[in-house]
Amino acid sequence: FCRNFSSSSSRFGNIKHVTVIGAGLMGAGIAQVAASTGHQVVIVDQTDDILSKSKATIEKSLQRVAGETFIAEVMGRLTIKTDAAAAVKNTDLVIEAIVENLEVKKKLFSSLDKAAPKHTIFTSNTSSIPIKDIAVATQRQDRFGGLHFFNPVPIMKLLEVIRIPATSDETFDKLLGFGKAMDKSTVNCKDTPGFIVNRLLVPYMMEAIRMVERGEASPQDVDTAMKLGAGYPMGPFELTDYVGLDTCKFIIDGWHKKYPDNPLFMPSPLLDKLVSEGKLGNKTGEGFYKQK
Ligand code: CAA
Ligand code: NAD
Repeated sequence: FCRNFSSSSSRFGNIKHVTVIGAGLMGAGIAQVAASTGHQVVIVDQTDDILSKSKATIEKSLQRVAGETFIAEVMGRLTIKTDAAAAVKNTDLVIEAIVENLEVKKKLFSSLDKAAPKHTIFTSNTSSIPIKDIAVATQRQDRFGGLHFFNPVPIMKLLEVIRIPATSDETFDKLLGFGKAMDKSTVNCKDTPGFIVNRLLVPYMMEAIRMVERGEASPQDVDTAMKLGAGYPMGPFELTDYVGLDTCKFIIDGWHKKYPDNPLFMPSPLLDKLVSEGKLGNKTGEGFYKQK
């Protein structure tokens, strides 16, 4: 993605100014790619401290793949703000990547709806919450959709683009165009639990945890088996540590509440225990594995 773009225009014109809300694992990656592909980007989070760390993460990530001039240009297109309402005043697209909690997301979008211009499209990067349940917090359901990125955003090529029944064709086309401008391959998704990838991936990760709970194998052996026997780049425990145990728990608890009879969506005592101990994976230094 290290191409040169003038600082005043992105590649496909429509969406030039993007507001990313949530500067964590996903928000930082989304902001990095959006700025690298020529968009003006504002990143919003709760504190300046979180935002400075996020900017430093982006710079470090860029250093792996780009030279000084490109990095300076990309960083020049990124600004940070703690006031979400002020950030969206002149934005074309909002991408929300805050905590996986419906009420918190609804509260945010309800306040943004009043602050953003009419043309602004709202999207959520939620892993598991129905987009329509979030969109009801706004008066712009025709300009609402889902943009589901994958971790690590700079490397994973896929973007799931989700429409709800109210999403207009114009909005959906703009979202597909934005995906292209971000250099991602897009797939069209309905607003079903987990869209495509997570509907398959999360039950697989949970099944691996249940296998260990039953004492049938160690996490290390499961990971080795799936990497060497099935060709996956990471085993399910490495992947759960990578995604974040808290995020996995939010996903499975939400689905279990909604579909209590589905055995694929059963919570796991082991996952609950690790989360209650603050072992959230790579982001806290320990999950199923201790980081070296
Ligand atoms: N920005 C841009 N490119 C980068 C980069 C960065 N910050 N860091 C690395 N790269 C590039 C490297 O230059 C390298 O490119 P080349 O092959 O052209 O040299 C390439 O990316 C691979 O880099 P690494 O060698 O460092 O990475 P790796 O081979 O060890 O693979 C991995 C790392 C991509 C994470 C791989 O282990 C993997 O694919 N893991 C699985 C990830 C996955 O499944 N993600 C989905 C999680 S689920 C989700 O996200 C959805 C949800 O809602 C929970
Ligand atoms: P994270 O915990 O790394 O980051 C979330 C950030 O949001 C934090 O910095 C937090 O301070 C901030 N935040 C929380 N409430 C806020 C608010 N009201 N206003 C502004 N900022 C707020 O989480 P993450 O892994 O980046 O996940 C973010 C979203 O992306 C979730 O909906 C998650 O389900 C989804 N997602 C996660 C992954 C993954 O692999 N982790 C992949 C795809 C999608």
